Amino acid sequence: MSASGGNGTVLVVDDERNIRRTLEMILGGEGFDVRTAASGEEALQALAAGGVDVVILDVRLPGMSGLDALARIRADASSVRLPVIMISGHASLQEAVQAVQSGATDFFEKPLDRDRVVLSVRNALRAWRLEREVDRLRAEVGQRYEMIGESPVMRRLYEEIEKVAPTRGRVLITGESGTGKELIARAVHRLSPRRDGPFIKVNCAAIPQDLIESELFGYERGAFTGAAQRKKGQFELANRGTLFLDEIGDMALAAQSKVLRALQSNEITRVGSEQSIEVDVRVIAATNKDLQVEVAKGAFREDLFFRLNVIPLRSPPLRERVEDIPLLVTSFVRDFCAENGLSEKRITPDALAAVVARPWPGNIRELRNVVERMVILSGTEIVASDVPDPPRIGPWATQSAERDVDPDADADDSSEIPAMPERAPGERPTLRDFRDRAEREYILSTLAEVGWNISRAAVLLGVERTNLHKKMRSLDIKR
Ligand SMILES: Nc1ncnc2c1ncn2[C@@H]1O[C@H](COP(=O)(O)OP(=O)(O)OP(=O)(O)O)[C@@H](O)[C@H]1O
Ligand SMILES: [Mg+2]
Repeated sequence: MSASGGNGTVLVVDDERNIRRTLEMILGGEGFDVRTAASGEEALQALAAGGVDVVILDVRLPGMSGLDALARIRADASSVRLPVIMISGHASLQEAVQAVQSGATDFFEKPLDRDRVVLSVRNALRAWRLEREVDRLRAEVGQRYEMIGESPVMRRLYEEIEKVAPTRGRVLITGESGTGKELIARAVHRLSPRRDGPFIKVNCAAIPQDLIESELFGYERGAFTGAAQRKKGQFELANRGTLFLDEIGDMALAAQSKVLRALQSNEITRVGSEQSIEVDVRVIAATNKDLQVEVAKGAFREDLFFRLNVIPLRSPPLRERVEDIPLLVTSFVRDFCAENGLSEKRITPDALAAVVARPWPGNIRELRNVVERMVILSGTEIVASDVPDPPRIGPWATQSAERDVDPDADADDSSEIPAMPERAPGERPTLRDFRDRAEREYILSTLAEVGWNISRAAVLLGVERTNLHKKMRSLDIKR
């Protein structure tokens, strides 16, 4: 918003003094602050000083033409969307079309029509203010998530979070390790009406199975040996707030049925008690397992799955949003420099490119760790040689590991992969299955990234072009 007049500030650019005067009178009379400039050069100076909300710009100016000035205004990030209304004394249709094509907000001819001018300025201002309000809210919401990323998948995720947060709907967050499932859960809580209530996290994988019931539901004094005091469980502690059941896929079946009962009745019973207690809890669960596979295997209760999975949210892996990596890296560099009392280090474009090109099987968590390490170990700036090679473990490293280390791996690149024996649905995938799936997915995403340019993909993947072709054939990858 303009620093001065509440109605907004208009910059009038015209070489004719009369026109400037007329507009000053018309707009001043409507409560706008009016500044004037007699040339394009002067106008750009006035804009650089800031505070202008709308520009009225003559097409024909001595020196820099109005259209040139418009182009300059649009080329500057700070004014790329600033409303610019063009005026002309000798309006030709062609000029008008050209002006609008070059990004003018509106166009009209002299002699000026008072109402038309006022209406046009008002409309332009309203649109401009709305846009800035949207920007401001976006920035605020972004901060509230503490999530970084502007890629389409992340924007979609933000929209989904905003939609589900105000409801009581149970949310199931799925996604690979290190993709930000916990951040999503916290964002949903923070954007919900329960934001002032507690957010209680339970790591279902970390609690020994025989303790999970007392952990979740609490116990009465004397309920078992060692229960010297009555203790509230996590469900009770989360009352009027959010209970985050992390790694729910690792919960034992016995505990699952108790959680199911609690979700069905909104009541819990402490261990060693007869009495049930009503709780008002919103449950958010997260897992990096495919719960449908777990259900098929009989390791996860189907009824609980349906109860938890009212609103599924998927936390996208980093390879689906490679375009966010530069943003993440710069932000992490800033954080870790500040944390380590260093002045902010620059990362060279080469180094950044190497980070972008590297696979990130551990997703954002891995990226954060690597950036922390680079910040600490690099010199005054982070250069390409500071970017560590990916660790040679796991399916993601097969490409480079095969080439240098694994003696039988060559067979993989040169021969067709033998058909897999038939396996019952839901059976645990073999390492080979998993590896093929992972390779397939990674190759596909790399190809998509480089517009299916095989040579470039081969470079990024660190394999020979011919081997990539073979691999694509064996994994049935087609455009
Ligand atoms: N969009 C993001 N922007 C910034 N930091 C992020 C983002 N997503 C995740 N992080 C950071 O990455 C790390 C891992 O995130 P988080 O713990 O939420 O992942 P997770 O999916 O729960 O992983 P796991 O399955 O291993 O528990 C955290 O340090 C988190 O702050
Ligand atoms: Mg987690």
